[in-house]
Amino acid sequence: KEYNVAILGATGAVGTRMIQQLEQSSIPVKQVKLLASPRSAGKVLQFKGQDVTVEATTPESFDDVDIVLASAGGAASKQFLPEAVKRGAVAVDNTSAFRMDPEVPLVVPEVNEDAIAQHKGIIANPNCSTIQMVVALKPIFDVAGLKQIIVSTYQAGSGAGQTAIQELDDEAQQHLNGEPMTADIFPVKSEAHHYPLAFNLLPQIDVFEPDGSTHEEWKMVHETKKIMLGDMNDPKIKVNATCVRVPVVIGHGESVYFEVEDNTNLDAHKVQELIKHGDGLVLEDDPAEQLYPQPINAEGHTDTYVGRVREDPENPGAYNLWVVADNLLKGAAANTVEIAEKLVEHDLVRVPADYYGKE
Ligand code: A2P
Repeated sequence: KEYNVAILGATGAVGTRMIQQLEQSSIPVKQVKLLASPRSAGKVLQFKGQDVTVEATTPESFDDVDIVLASAGGAASKQFLPEAVKRGAVAVDNTSAFRMDPEVPLVVPEVNEDAIAQHKGIIANPNCSTIQMVVALKPIFDVAGLKQIIVSTYQAGSGAGQTAIQELDDEAQQHLNGEPMTADIFPVKSEAHHYPLAFNLLPQIDVFEPDGSTHEEWKMVHETKKIMLGDMNDPKIKVNATCVRVPVVIGHGESVYFEVEDNTNLDAHKVQELIKHGDGLVLEDDPAEQLYPQPINAEGHTDTYVGRVREDPENPGAYNLWVVADNLLKGAAANTVEIAEKLVEHDLVRVPADYYGKE
């Protein structure tokens, strides 16, 4: 069987990488449809060496489509994905639009592949920062359980999209030219105030919650619980996040501190071994050789890199990790395409009778 695949947001930072990941995937593609806003209609992109013309998205764009890969922002997903599902397509959505919907599985294949089978037409791809953290913690969670996770992120500018990459480049150039830096996108496009990211740090990603945390931090807490425990509010693992935007173009870094439930058979060496053999993980940890993960090395790769593995001598049963991944690949396009590959592999490319949004 071959599949018609539509990429919604095909011209964006993640969408262009979805095209590449789909080209390299095991999915037998009959035809690919590249969808964006009317601004990009008529633009010509390539799929497996063939020209494909970008189309403006309408509900009818999804007629005869089997699989949708979406990364055109939450509003476009909310508008178009129920239309796609109504027409019989299964959608894997990289936006936050449906992640917390109890009818929508939130999936990282290395961690909760089985959840895919519950889908009603929409499967959500988690936030980039959440994905690389749960991939790193999964093998440890399996053998020792987790009581608490405290994470600080160092997130690349590309997480805010193609126009944000341009803004970061422009600011760096302005600064080097001795000009004032102009800012219109960071930290959050829709907010009242904008600040330069180049040569700076911004401790705000997404809007603020009433409790003073940001929505990005909120996502890391609740997505982690939904992926690892099946319930976004499960108190079994306590999660605390501080998310910071750094002037890196691609590749998120995370300082992850965690406490296990049962430390009986664990130490730093065992944690290293678990990571070394973990799904989707590469251990880069050798202080003697100054070997540790760096965003510039992770860029272009779909693995999650872990180093700086340490025991907390002040708190037995607690450990530190440094986790890096390409936020546009494992954090977005690659994870989305991996979910689609699992759908194909398990013959789940079909919507059930009680599909998502059925009236
Ligand atoms: P366009 O190129 O026409 O603006 P990024 O995440 O890099 O900012 O990219 C966002 C992607 O989502 C782009 O492909 C953009 O298309 C697309 N997009 C934005 N808004 C819509 C919309 N309302 N309908 C369809 N595609 C959209």
